[in-house]
Amino acid sequence: MKTRTQKSIQLFNFWSSVYDSPLSRWFFEHYYNKVESHLTDLAHKHLLSVGCGTGTLEIRLAKRFPTATIVGVDLSEKMLQRANTKKGELTNIIFSRAVSEELDLYDNQFDYSVCIHSFHHYQDQLASLKEFARVLRPGGTLFLLDGLKDEWLGRVHLKMNMLLYEPDVLYHKKKKLTTMLKQAGFNRIDIERLDPVYSIFICQ
Ligand SMILES: C[S@@+](CC[C@H](N)C(=O)[O-])C[C@H]1O[C@@H](n2cnc3c(N)ncnc32)[C@H](O)[C@@H]1O
Repeated sequence: MKTRTQKSIQLFNFWSSVYDSPLSRWFFEHYYNKVESHLTDLAHKHLLSVGCGTGTLEIRLAKRFPTATIVGVDLSEKMLQRANTKKGELTNIIFSRAVSEELDLYDNQFDYSVCIHSFHHYQDQLASLKEFARVLRPGGTLFLLDGLKDEWLGRVHLKMNMLLYEPDVLYHKKKKLTTMLKQAGFNRIDIERLDPVYSIFICQ
């Protein structure tokens, strides 16, 4: 039987060709803007994006903050190929292959990490959160954007997603995800509700 990780690789290698289509961009753009609105002081800072996909937000941030260093990791080679093509000549951004549970990165390296629309795909979510905490420097901040099952509209939307194209994913309620974040070592957790489905967990 395939693991959730193997299914994600298959799913996103398949989706990579249409991931930057106008319809998909229309959906994701709103969420990129919401996360970006928190990242106003990236100059000379280090940012990690886990599950960066084709790197749209990450490339935008690298252009906006030329002195920032941005690392995007993803497990889908094909999503990363797109990201690398899109980044062109930019030198302050690197995309590489890694799985969230085993980030091949030093401890205490990043000022910020972001994880956008990706967490529900992770095989071992707690191990991934521990990795996020390990690579953040003390006082660093994680922005984790994902769907929540607290509101009925959220549950219906996420169920539809699962029925249509993401059968093997794992979403939580606010309380459960907060508990996991605390177990991973984050002490301060603020939640920004974006709509009935999606929220950003801002964690230190
Ligand atoms: C819906 S896409 C989101 C991409 C990007 N963050 C965005 O918002 O456009 C989810 C991404 O997470 C990646 N992914 C899924 N499981 C992963 C894991 N365990 N480790 C790293 N990346 C993963 C997938 O390959 C995919 O590119």
